[in-house]
Amino acid sequence: MKKVRSPRPIGRNIAMELVRITEAAALAAAHYMGMGDKDLVDQAAVDAMRTTLNHTRIDGVVVIGEGEKDQAPMLYIGESVGDGVGLQVDVAVDPIDGTKLLARGLPGAISAVALSARGTMNCPRQFVYMNKIVVGREARGVIDINATVADNLINIARAKKRKLPEITVVVLDRPRHEQLLAEIREAGARVKLISDGDVAAGIQAAIPDSGVDVLMGIGGTPEGVLTAAAVRCVGGEIHGKAWPRDEQERRAAASTGIDVDRIYTAADLVAGNDMFFAATGASSGELLQGVRYSGGGARTQSLAMRSLSGTTRWIESHHDFKRRHKLRFPD
Ligand code: FBP
Repeated sequence: MKKVRSPRPIGRNIAMELVRITEAAALAAAHYMGMGDKDLVDQAAVDAMRTTLNHTRIDGVVVIGEGEKDQAPMLYIGESVGDGVGLQVDVAVDPIDGTKLLARGLPGAISAVALSARGTMNCPRQFVYMNKIVVGREARGVIDINATVADNLINIARAKKRKLPEITVVVLDRPRHEQLLAEIREAGARVKLISDGDVAAGIQAAIPDSGVDVLMGIGGTPEGVLTAAAVRCVGGEIHGKAWPRDEQERRAAASTGIDVDRIYTAADLVAGNDMFFAATGASSGELLQGVRYSGGGARTQSLAMRSLSGTTRWIESHHDFKRRHKLRFPD
């Protein structure tokens, strides 16, 4: 008789638990939407994220956090998080990506967290900024950050079986992107400018049918690592390259043996094969709906992803404020 092999155990999908963490941060920060104070937004999200993170069954170390310990009292790089009992993991957090958006009541602010096995996240944090190209599965393998903008766009359009005017490129609206915008327009692709929040925009570029085909341009380096975790979950690709702000930053990095011209792929930024990503909308944007209040509670929309299974879950939650305190959730 043919022996039936028992399937491998599915294991724990921590992404489902990460959603509770990003929900808590988005809910806490959303109270301050439009009040004009980005520090208030950030502090509320950091407090809530740290509290829920520390109730999660992981032995985590923050690799992407709020900055070095001296400036960041909470969720600083190197901080131990979780209950210390579970899996040993690297943790990347962005309690709110787009603090200015939320403080001004603009769309597109999200809360995001990623986890991967200990020692697998690599952030070239000597550089504040990274030049990035992000695409989804269909265009994986055709991008090259050292190639011209036109060549990249032609290859992406070909891989997606579209014409160039049917390709939408999302770009942060910054003076440093003047030349990039000129080249995209010259190539004939469509442009979507955003004022902040390139993690959500990168995820949009990586997931199918989002209305965005590619993210291009210079944004935060830590945001690049978070984006890489999500990109690996959905099977897309990112190319990142350090963008030193000046000659001093370039020389300082080069003197420590860092290769300033290195191209970081998704697997260079987050290695291994089992990583988890979650995000919750704080203010409503194209990727995720923001926090919406209803009598005595609120609704949130989140994404939970796991690379091993390739599963992406869209999670709509209703939170009852009258009962949350029983679980000692932060407000
Ligand atoms: P914050 O929420 O931390 O302010 O980041 C917002 C953001 O727009 C990121 O999404 C992006 O990577 C980065 O800032 C771009 O930096 P800058 O505003 O300095 O161009």
